[in-house]
Amino acid sequence: MFLPVIMAGGTGSRLWPLSRSAYPKQFLALTSDNTMLQETVLRLSGIDHQSPMVICNEASRFMVAEQLRAIDALQSPVILEPVGRNTAPAIALAALQAIAGGEDPILLVLAADHVILDNPAFLQAVAQAEMLAQQDAMVTFGIVPTHAETGYGYIKRGAEQNNAFKVDSFVEKPNLDKAREYVDSGEYYWNSGMFMFKASRYLAELKQFQPAILAACEAAIGNTASDLDFVRVDKAAFEACPDDSIDYAVMEKTDSAIVVPLDAQWNDVGSWSALWDVNSKDEAGNAIKGDTLTHDTHNCLIQGGERLVATVGVEDLVIVDTKDALLVASKDRVQEVKQIVSKLKAEK
Ligand code: GDD
Ligand code: MG
Repeated sequence: MFLPVIMAGGTGSRLWPLSRSAYPKQFLALTSDNTMLQETVLRLSGIDHQSPMVICNEASRFMVAEQLRAIDALQSPVILEPVGRNTAPAIALAALQAIAGGEDPILLVLAADHVILDNPAFLQAVAQAEMLAQQDAMVTFGIVPTHAETGYGYIKRGAEQNNAFKVDSFVEKPNLDKAREYVDSGEYYWNSGMFMFKASRYLAELKQFQPAILAACEAAIGNTASDLDFVRVDKAAFEACPDDSIDYAVMEKTDSAIVVPLDAQWNDVGSWSALWDVNSKDEAGNAIKGDTLTHDTHNCLIQGGERLVATVGVEDLVIVDTKDALLVASKDRVQEVKQIVSKLKAEK
């Protein structure tokens, strides 16, 4: 048995205009009728586990509660962060909350905004990781890289250990030259951003490498206000916590990391083209949602909003229509959507 910890506090900007700071991608239904948060919970239904613990920003609380309740998954209180301090503190709060009852569960830390198409393969990797975590390993899940992506962590494979590998080194978000070198070497995995370890093990690692984060989180969780659905941590204590991701704070530094290879059609849906990749398409290669009419249109992603979207004689475009913004972008330049988001922020 393990305890899923779902991190849902990020702010997505690359899927603008659908994803906004008030409505990040984990709360959107991008690949099915369920939101990405709901998919993250439902994905675990084929394996024995405790009811998931979700941790998110205070501002998202009603959305999270509603989405969990809709799939009957609001069984443990949602932990609310008064401010975002990135994933290392978020996981620390979850680990501290988990051990508060006197137990020391194995945590399966999941991002709320990933797509995994081959669920049996994912669950098999989780079962394998659980065994390794039981033996006190800090487990990561490694994806065979397909290109030199600089937005990911890179894991260098070491000696083999029960179909998994010791982590020789872990480099979070390298520059492009390094990323190319890693991919070409064939010795690296992408870090999927999912982890498995005992709660106490993570806290011990944090104590060693980032004691200030642990101290701030202990103070914050030591003074919680709870009601039925939510646990609120102490605002002042958590505000004083350093901001860092688990990747930089712990995974780059620990000696106990083991990587379990994951071949499950994982995708972190970091862009509109990634979403086109994972969605089903019509015979002309278009991934279409909403009220649309197409003529001689190929390999486009089209998301209609409240009105009809019609296209004629276009290809490789991303067209996303919402109530107050329309995006038209070349599909091979969708990473630059973040430029629009920056410009919008600058104008505010
Ligand atoms: N509760 C909470 N609080 N959740 C957070 C916070 C926070 O302050 N910050 C981020 N999250 C959540 C996000 O919603 C997402 O589900 C997950 O934690 C990961 O955060 P991202 O901000 O998306 O991380 P990243 O994509 O830059 O990098 C991570 O994921 C990559 C794979 O997608 C790293 O682990 C990389 O090494 C990895 O390759
Ligand atoms: Mg991400």
